[in-house]
Amino acid sequence: MDHFDYKGGILHAEDLSIEDIARETGTPFYVYSTATLTRHYQVFSRAFAGLDTLICYSVKANSNIAVLKTLADLGSGMDVVSRGELRRARAAGVPGQKIVFSGVGKTREEMAEALDENIYCFNIESEPELEALSGIAAAKEVKAPVALRINPDVDARTHAKISTGRAEDKFGIPWKRARETYAMAAKLPGIRVTGIDMHIGSQLTELEPFSNAISRLGDLVRELRAAGHRINHFDFGGGLGIPYRRGNAPPPHPDEYAEMVKDMAAEFDCRLVFEPGRMIAGNAGILVAKIIYIKQGENKTFAIVDAAMNDLVRPTLYSAHHDILPVRAAAPDVPERDYDIVGPICESGDFLARSRKLPPLAAGDLIAVMSAGAYGAVLSGTYNTRPLIPETLVNGADYAIIRKRQSYEALLGLDALPPWL
Ligand code: LLP
Repeated sequence: MDHFDYKGGILHAEDLSIEDIARETGTPFYVYSTATLTRHYQVFSRAFAGLDTLICYSVKANSNIAVLKTLADLGSGMDVVSRGELRRARAAGVPGQKIVFSGVGKTREEMAEALDENIYCFNIESEPELEALSGIAAAKEVKAPVALRINPDVDARTHAKISTGRAEDKFGIPWKRARETYAMAAKLPGIRVTGIDMHIGSQLTELEPFSNAISRLGDLVRELRAAGHRINHFDFGGGLGIPYRRGNAPPPHPDEYAEMVKDMAAEFDCRLVFEPGRMIAGNAGILVAKIIYIKQGENKTFAIVDAAMNDLVRPTLYSAHHDILPVRAAAPDVPERDYDIVGPICESGDFLARSRKLPPLAAGDLIAVMSAGAYGAVLSGTYNTRPLIPETLVNGADYAIIRKRQSYEALLGLDALPPWL
């Protein structure tokens, strides 16, 4: 569910007309809805009400500090994967004890900073990483709280690029080696084992891969505890899919996911940690673009818009589908036409949607690319020297620019001439 609806024939974000925001900010831009972010966080947290849980929103999905603060104010913790994300989480007021640090390549500097922030847990993905962390912690005369991320070798049945729990993926410690690695961790001077961790992929549309992975890790928890290891928390990662197509059957509801997890985890009597990203931010954001030209090709009609693959790379990178809505609703009886929605970038991969049935479009019209709140702005770049676009946050009838449009001065100013030129 989201808070982007037509009112009086114009697409609104909560109580604000997208046309009004566009008039003030110029196009293209992102719009996020506070009500949707709040609702999604609460749907997830209420599904686990009464249990000892820590929900660590996965910052990578949408890391704008205003989005983080919105969630932090609801009680959310954060899952970070870099020093930059750690700093964003701290800037949003999230206490260290609600932060987990994931990722296969944490540098020593990142580990040191996270130790100084007294984070809740490091999700460790390899033996060398474990040794490095132990060394840094021991030098500081502390013990780093650690969960080992276990690769359960299950197929998440999602897009290959966002599947992370198969043996051939770079993530986690192979489950067959988990006992040895826990034994090694127990002997390291700077490590305090506190839990176990998994994350098998993103945009999962079935529960079975989750339950297969949880079952495999569950067996390990029993064995590890029998061997004397403390497993105080079980981190299930993120990955729950969201509906991208209006009108299609949605992926499992968070309540169904929660029932499955609660059933399987009950015997472990430990804290449950989650790292949802897309589920919270995905449908809480849209990308608004303006049509520059309608171009008639040999056998296709192209709507050339002012947003491009540098602003939203998901369609070309993952063949991802995003619904496209005209900001001004067409009259119901107008026949639809077939459009490719493309950007101005000099690559055929620069498209936002292909072969889409839409009411007749004209230059100057605004369109909304839906479900763009997660892995949208965070994955944007400046290819073709296109400045980063603004992000706005709506709250009822209010809105604010939460990242301003990058200026050409700022963009070009990153370059420097060497002394010989
Ligand atoms: N935890 C870890 C360790 C992760 O690597 C991720 C996502 C999450 C949690 C959050 O997963 P979510 O709940 O959002 O599925 N750029 C891709 C998605 C990459 C996901 C990377 N890891 C896309 O646009 O589909």
